Amino acid sequence: MEALGRTALCVCSVLFILTEVSADFIYIPSLVHHGVEGKSLLLAVETRFPLDKADIQGTWSHTRSSGTRTTLVTFTKRDAITNMMYRNNLFFKVPNISLAIHKLHRDDEGDYHLSLNIEFHNNTGRVIKEERNVRVTVDVPVSSPVIAKSPTYAVVEDKANVTMTCSVERGTRVAFQWMRDNVLLGTSTRYHFSKGNATLLISPVRKEDKGSYRCVAGNPVSPGRHSRGLELNVYYGPYNLEVNSGQGLRTGEVFTINPGELAFFECQADSNPPNSYVWISKSHNSTQVITEGPRLEVLSYRLAQPEEYLCRAFNNVTQKQNEAQFTLVVAGLGTGKEKHTQGGDGVSPLAVIIVCSLFIIGCMLLFFLRRNCHPKRVLMSIYNRPLTEQKRPHRSGHEDATEDFGIYEFVSIPGKMDSAQVSCRSLARLESVQDMHTTIYDVIRHVPESPSHSLLK
Ligand SMILES: *[C@@H]1O[C@H](CO)[C@@H](O)[C@H](O)[C@H]1NC(C)=O
Ligand SMILES: *[C@@H]1O[C@H](CO)[C@@H](O)[C@H](O)[C@H]1NC(C)=O
Ligand SMILES: *[C@@H]1O[C@H](CO)[C@@H](O)[C@H](O)[C@H]1NC(C)=O
Ligand SMILES: *[C@@H]1O[C@H](CO)[C@@H](O)[C@H](O)[C@H]1NC(C)=O
Ligand SMILES: *[C@@H]1O[C@H](CO)[C@@H](O)[C@H](O)[C@H]1NC(C)=O
Ligand SMILES: *[C@@H]1O[C@H](CO)[C@@H](O)[C@H](O)[C@H]1NC(C)=O
Repeated sequence: MEALGRTALCVCSVLFILTEVSADFIYIPSLVHHGVEGKSLLLAVETRFPLDKADIQGTWSHTRSSGTRTTLVTFTKRDAITNMMYRNNLFFKVPNISLAIHKLHRDDEGDYHLSLNIEFHNNTGRVIKEERNVRVTVDVPVSSPVIAKSPTYAVVEDKANVTMTCSVERGTRVAFQWMRDNVLLGTSTRYHFSKGNATLLISPVRKEDKGSYRCVAGNPVSPGRHSRGLELNVYYGPYNLEVNSGQGLRTGEVFTINPGELAFFECQADSNPPNSYVWISKSHNSTQVITEGPRLEVLSYRLAQPEEYLCRAFNNVTQKQNEAQFTLVVAGLGTGKEKHTQGGDGVSPLAVIIVCSLFIIGCMLLFFLRRNCHPKRVLMSIYNRPLTEQKRPHRSGHEDATEDFGIYEFVSIPGKMDSAQVSCRSLARLESVQDMHTTIYDVIRHVPESPSHSLLK
């Protein structure tokens, strides 16, 4: 194992030294050539040593992409033998060891291999080996690309797919690229490129896809060739509807104009084809089309109060519409009005509430009193009590009179409810007298002191 490693190392170092040394003796300016079919190609080699002080011997061979290898030329300093199969197509003349190919053919593609042995006169016996590989491609130049799209007519955003196709009449190994408005297309989930980019499918089409498309076709021997521009028209919108005004001051949804001013309003929305605009007034709770077109003129003196305006933009191809609404206020008038309405709003409801509640209270009172305090009942209750009390055992003639002592009231409001008895009786007992609008009579009787004293005694 160790021996193997050592030999490998040795071989490597020898190779390294050889390449190091040989690098000085020949030089190939270009190791890759992109040849054009039908044109000639020179595989130039420069020798970096005095040819008269050395003997050389070498070969040029060709390896196709299929792998077959053919010897093209074998040469020494004085002579060259060219493969008969290629002698009409190759040009080689010693001591110049560059190889020229007259008319490139697709078959000439592949690797060209130069193997060169050098033996210097001052150091006979030591052969220096030089090897180089030159890669050659042969291509047909690209003709002007032709761009096409399907469908050919304008499409509606989000509702259609568009396929762009780029084709070339001539050209090998053509690579396509796509540009919109002279900018290379980036990647997008909506872009689907075919293999080699010959077709581009945009699915679905959007507003931003609108523009002029070009395809760029190229290969190693033709720089990118641009097709003519093909317009893609996409119907979209309306988007970003807004109302602008030369006069008028905008604050949020409200425009304020000065009294006597003629105000202009311009409705704008992004749309293709251009929108149709309609102005609608929403005053007096009814909508009314005032004018068509993007422009609205309002004479401020016509505004008795703040009015609502609405601009409606409609795209008749996409069948979509957008609306912007705003309130127009005349500066002095508007604020005055507002104050006035605010005042009215502040006072009148309060007054109404007060009046109403007073009325309701009055009614309720009336109702209750009517129901509860029938004069008959009151009288009855007053008379009832003494009756029941009469059933008590009489102790003295004066006791009756003492118990009747108190405050009696006369209720003037007639009523008939039975429950009234309770309230009226309680009235008789001096409970919640103040609550009722009643006339109270104090029944004061003289209570003789002496009999009671005598009784107690
Ligand atoms: C070898 O030949 C090519 C053309 O065939 C020429 O351009 C080049 O200069 C020649 N090299 C030398 C060293 O004469
Ligand atoms: C032999 O001659 C070549 C070219 O003149 C020179 O580069 C090289 O060094 C010489 N070698 C020796 C051993 O003198
Ligand atoms: C567009 O392509 C999508 C698939 O990418 C397909 O589902 C849709 O039906 C196509 N729309 C039209 C209008 O062809
Ligand atoms: C296809 O085209 C796109 C856009 O032009 C580009 O970014 C991409 O590199 C192309 N792909 C190939 C394989 O050419
Ligand atoms: C305004 O219109 C709405 C809806 O059409 C309706 O409910 C409302 O009663 C109307 N108000 C007046 C003051 O006409
Ligand atoms: C759409 O409206 C434009 C004017 O804004 C009109 O010229 C065109 O004919 C209308 N197209 C359709 C399909 O209604």
